[in-house]
Amino acid sequence: GRVAVLMGGSSSEREVSLMSGKGVLAALQARGVDAIAFDPAERALCELCALAVQRVFIALHGRHGEDGTVQGALELLGIPYTGPGVMASALAIDKHMTKRLWQCEGLSTPAWRMVASPAQAHAAAHELGLPLMFKASHEGSTLGLARADTAQQVDAAYAEAARFDAAVLAEQFIAGDEVTCGVLGEGAGAVALPLIHIVAPGGNYDFEHKYFSDETQYICPSGLPPAEEQAIAELVLASYRTLGCRGWGRADIMIRATDRKPFLLELNTSPGMTGHSLVPLAARVAGLNYEDLCLRILADARL
Ligand code: DAL
Ligand code: MG
Repeated sequence: GRVAVLMGGSSSEREVSLMSGKGVLAALQARGVDAIAFDPAERALCELCALAVQRVFIALHGRHGEDGTVQGALELLGIPYTGPGVMASALAIDKHMTKRLWQCEGLSTPAWRMVASPAQAHAAAHELGLPLMFKASHEGSTLGLARADTAQQVDAAYAEAARFDAAVLAEQFIAGDEVTCGVLGEGAGAVALPLIHIVAPGGNYDFEHKYFSDETQYICPSGLPPAEEQAIAELVLASYRTLGCRGWGRADIMIRATDRKPFLLELNTSPGMTGHSLVPLAARVAGLNYEDLCLRILADARL
């Protein structure tokens, strides 16, 4: 049956999604799938029915795509879709809710406060110490993310995050190694892909480095001691199950330099599939090329 690849959309990650979607569309077509592109910012989702679409590959990122809204609409239309359902999507897009659930389950995540004003941002800096990361609660691709190393930088860092979202987290900065871990599957059958160690020049893995620069190094296999990689994979699988994820996802982690303790930062439920993206890289190391990966994710599409 026909597959629509949802791409574009109206979030601030629209351009990233168009890159992800084009890759996925080409891969599915190369494998003989009757796949079409569909941009929910340009046409109403209910048109999927008239186009005789039987399954949807969600290659949207951020709001109105990764956050449970499109998933809810597809539930109503009765069209199976890739990735997690409404609740897991809505939880994972919200960094505050995500961290609350992880904390309840005893899964380590950096200390944080929600802040709604510059005064609260300074109070958080006082309580948690510096450096702090200020993060828009519902954004991806490092948009709305800024670091404050000194009290003088708190106002600007808070303002940058607040530009994207009324809900802003002030989160303790964990100095150490940045790693990311893709996951495929569901429940007891979920499997972690090989870890990727991200080494950005100057430690600055921002939007530009994510999608356009070739200076960032992605080390996979990670080279971490196998026992450490295994422990992180188990932490990531627990974080994935706690949110009720299925299909696929990717968790971002910092490993604290002082004691090698891993901290969960967030879980992306519609990870990037661009030429620079990380789940495709980890899948390749696991023996799944980009086209195999797209077919595998599509095979798990459901209502
Ligand atoms: N939000 C971007 C697309 C990612 O997590 O890969
Ligand atoms: Mg993200």
